[in-house]
Amino acid sequence: MATGKPRSGLERAFEQTGLKQLFDFSRCGDEGFPKPHPDMLLKLMAFAGLNKERVLMIGDTTHDLELAANAGVRSVAVSYGAHPESELRRHEPVKCFQSVDALHTWLTQKRLICKSAALLDGGKAVRFDLPHGHGSAPCFTMRFDGKVFAYVNRCPHRGTELDWNPGEVFDETGLYLICATHGAMFDPQTGLCISGRVKVAGCKRSDRGA
Ligand code: FES
Repeated sequence: MATGKPRSGLERAFEQTGLKQLFDFSRCGDEGFPKPHPDMLLKLMAFAGLNKERVLMIGDTTHDLELAANAGVRSVAVSYGAHPESELRRHEPVKCFQSVDALHTWLTQKRLICKSAALLDGGKAVRFDLPHGHGSAPCFTMRFDGKVFAYVNRCPHRGTELDWNPGEVFDETGLYLICATHGAMFDPQTGLCISGRVKVAGCKRSDRGA
């Protein structure tokens, strides 16, 4: 939540609506530079450990959309709030929605993970969360040999995430996926473990990092 309200106003709104538990982090107008300065969003991204590729700013004012642009992140406009659709569209949001239902449907069914061109062959992966049960599973998508693949980000040895830095899942040759914890290696085209502690620990050849 990035809001121009002072902290006291946001806490009051949270109390009245009972929505506080839906927000992991919040930043208010009296805690830094006001919108459209990118400070609020950059602080929230730092709190959450997210880079700009993983952030989507949803806003109902032109200030919100300018804030997103100034922070280098994508934005979605909603026209059921403060500013009319015609003004919001001038800031070129990814989408503009007229209702909460339409926004919700799009977010849950047509999530944009990243642009295809952002995935370089054997390069950095893009992380995303896949809804699973009552929570979500960490996943990543990457390109190998011209094709895009996506896997659950979990090493079958100990269940840890593969990347040693966010999105760094390839070994130095760019030919294999590698687990940062103990170095098990996986075929990027199948997710099959091909060497390392996964086998030593008793996992079969058919174990996948996905
Ligand atoms: S946790 Fe991946 S090889 Fe041990």
